[in-house]
Amino acid sequence: MPRSDLVVKLIKAGVSGDGAELRSVAESIAADERAKKHGGVAERIARVLDSSPTNSANGKSNHQGVRVRDGSGGIQRKEPRIPLSNLYLSRPIRSACEELIEEQGRADVLRSNGLEPRHRVLMVGPPGNGKTSLAEALAYELALPLFTVRYDAVVTSYLGETAQRLRRLFDFVRTEPCVLFFDEFDAIGKERGDLHETGEIKRVVTTLLLQLDDLPSYCVFVGATNHPELLDRATWRRFELRINVAKPTELQMTTYFADQLRKLTGTPGYTAKRLLEDVSVNSYSEAENFFLDVRRRVALSMGEISLRSVISERVRAWNERIKIPGESENHDRTTHSSAS
Ligand SMILES: Nc1ncnc2c1ncn2[C@@H]1O[C@H](COP(=O)(O)OP(=O)(O)O)[C@@H](O)[C@H]1O
Ligand SMILES: [Mg+2]
Repeated sequence: MPRSDLVVKLIKAGVSGDGAELRSVAESIAADERAKKHGGVAERIARVLDSSPTNSANGKSNHQGVRVRDGSGGIQRKEPRIPLSNLYLSRPIRSACEELIEEQGRADVLRSNGLEPRHRVLMVGPPGNGKTSLAEALAYELALPLFTVRYDAVVTSYLGETAQRLRRLFDFVRTEPCVLFFDEFDAIGKERGDLHETGEIKRVVTTLLLQLDDLPSYCVFVGATNHPELLDRATWRRFELRINVAKPTELQMTTYFADQLRKLTGTPGYTAKRLLEDVSVNSYSEAENFFLDVRRRVALSMGEISLRSVISERVRAWNERIKIPGESENHDRTTHSSAS
């Protein structure tokens, strides 16, 4: 089979979560490479296949023997890897998360008192400060698989079909305890303005809200949005826990910088505060990228260039980079993260 067909087949197997097919196509590609005397590539493919369990992530059956993709087009399953302690979180957010974890972990105590643990969480905040990471960390701490909904695979321009897909998705999700992460949660609401068939889109939103109401409490639903203004009141009301994953304050960012500087070997020639003044960053994600840049240069310099010089060079490069349009550099460092 020509190479491009194999690649398409490989992607199809990956997207549809067919682990066995993925493996078989990968093996064909390795054989193909070997035939072309590209032993190195074949070897690397073999190593990747060896390092993953027989049925890798998506093709796996869960403990109830339900095939993960059944009826669930648009869901991606992931074993979470981020502990809550890896994230920089304000105290109110951390305690809100710890409460949720405790309620889920001790659901039997709650139930024997006629109560249910909270399980519908809305995260609001600008990109890059940990909404996605926090959803994964919750799954990690709860020891549950993380299901991420690919919004584009659920919402189609055929609204009747969208509602049906949503129903199928939730039917699938409720078959086992999990964290269901719905990123860009506002997107469903947003469609309202774009489409004329307002009656139809209302039905989609209603379907979603009904599904949220019906979700058993062992399924933790986490919605994330940068556009909370697009959600209507009925939607807000569904969420028992609303978390403001705000832009870090200056103090929080200084703490992050200090920790990162401490991890480097050598004399940085900057205090955390000075460095933060010189590279204004808008989010944890940007700050992480800056320090990754530093660490790459440190690694490649093999000890020939002092840490101080590497950092001042990175500061210069950082300030000369093309900024993402629309993202201002003079940020409001007084914002306080809070949770409700
Ligand atoms: N609060 C945080 N603490 C530590 N790292 C963070 C934090 N927020 C973001 N990051 C880093 O930035 C990356 C992007 O963050 P992400 O969780 O995708 O943000 P969001 O979903 O809010 O856009 C993460 O992979 C993580 O490495
Ligand atoms: Mg995200």
